[in-house]
Amino acid sequence: MLEDYNEILEDLKKHSHFRNIKNFENKDEKYIYFNGKKLINLSSNNYLGLADNKRITEAFFNSGGDKYSFGSASARLLTGTLPVYKELEKLISRLFKTDKTLLFNSGYHANVGINSSLASGGDVIFSDKLNHASIIDGMQLSKAKFFRYRHNDMENLENFLIKERKNFKNAIIVSESVFSMDGDIADLRKLVELKQKYNCILVLDEAHAFGVFGKTGLGVCENLEITDKVDLIVGTFGKAIGSMGAFATGKKELIEYLINKARSFIFSTALPPVNIAFSKFIIENELPKTYDKRMRMLELGRKAGSESHIIPVVIGGNKETVDTCEVLFHNGYFTLPIRPPTVPERTSRLRISLTTEINEKELFDAISLAKQTK
Ligand SMILES: Cc1ncc(COP(=O)(O)O)c(C=O)c1O
Repeated sequence: MLEDYNEILEDLKKHSHFRNIKNFENKDEKYIYFNGKKLINLSSNNYLGLADNKRITEAFFNSGGDKYSFGSASARLLTGTLPVYKELEKLISRLFKTDKTLLFNSGYHANVGINSSLASGGDVIFSDKLNHASIIDGMQLSKAKFFRYRHNDMENLENFLIKERKNFKNAIIVSESVFSMDGDIADLRKLVELKQKYNCILVLDEAHAFGVFGKTGLGVCENLEITDKVDLIVGTFGKAIGSMGAFATGKKELIEYLINKARSFIFSTALPPVNIAFSKFIIENELPKTYDKRMRMLELGRKAGSESHIIPVVIGGNKETVDTCEVLFHNGYFTLPIRPPTVPERTSRLRISLTTEINEKELFDAISLAKQTK
């Protein structure tokens, strides 16, 4: 029987699709240490340098972080809810000016739980074609019918809505705000207009925007002042915030529904209290200090032709992409080859993600090296 698996693995290797886990020696806010080399990390979601940051870890523990335990030993609905969980949920609701917030163990848990439960039999989901795997997995678990509209193509979405909306009871539109692999931004104003026009619930995943966009770092919705027009906003603490976990915030009915129906929330042990306290600490104490740095990072992303801090350098084939990463490695840059199924076939790429530590020279050096290789 194992032969089948071996065959598949061999096939993955043959087509440069094979994934393996790299054992890094160390990493900090800017560099990653691998195979004896110190490399500028251009593949990090630690956008603000808040993870792996000794000063911040120390400040957290000195401010009382050391009193929290490292295990919750229970799901939230059982015995896993201590005051700090509620405090973080209340903090998020206050910042977003929403009715209610629910913490999830990760963005993956949040999207799977939301998209599998909010729409059920007789309902419909309209999803951007390039939405994250966690959204797709959630939809596949749902009993609802789903349609995937062309990436960021509002005309295509509206055509689906015209044709299909009337055939279903509840309808969800789901999109990322900053797209994880392309770095472009959804047309959020149009999404709000369409959701209102066709009576849908709008779910927006701000995973890569929370902590980066907006005056206080809440995301693209804050930038556009449309937070109150989105029914459910998802954010993760695992990227810019430098911690772990995620939240969904929005209408009271939706949050209470998720507490009762989202299986990824119900049937999993809650994150450790120390981790929840750390996310809260970062949002209260560190995020407010990041405005200037965030704006500089976004400006640099725009200079490189992106709408955000995520800059795709599309190479095309899998092997060429892997080879390009290798060349960058030998020149002191760490990048990862992003290949199907994460991105569509023949669009394998380097996904350069900026952090506030990366300067203009480093970024453009890396991009030109990648393009020369291509
Ligand atoms: C758009 C998007 N949503 C959700 C997630 C999952 O978040 P987490 O890493 O917290 O599970 C990711 C992570 O890669 C993502 O890119």
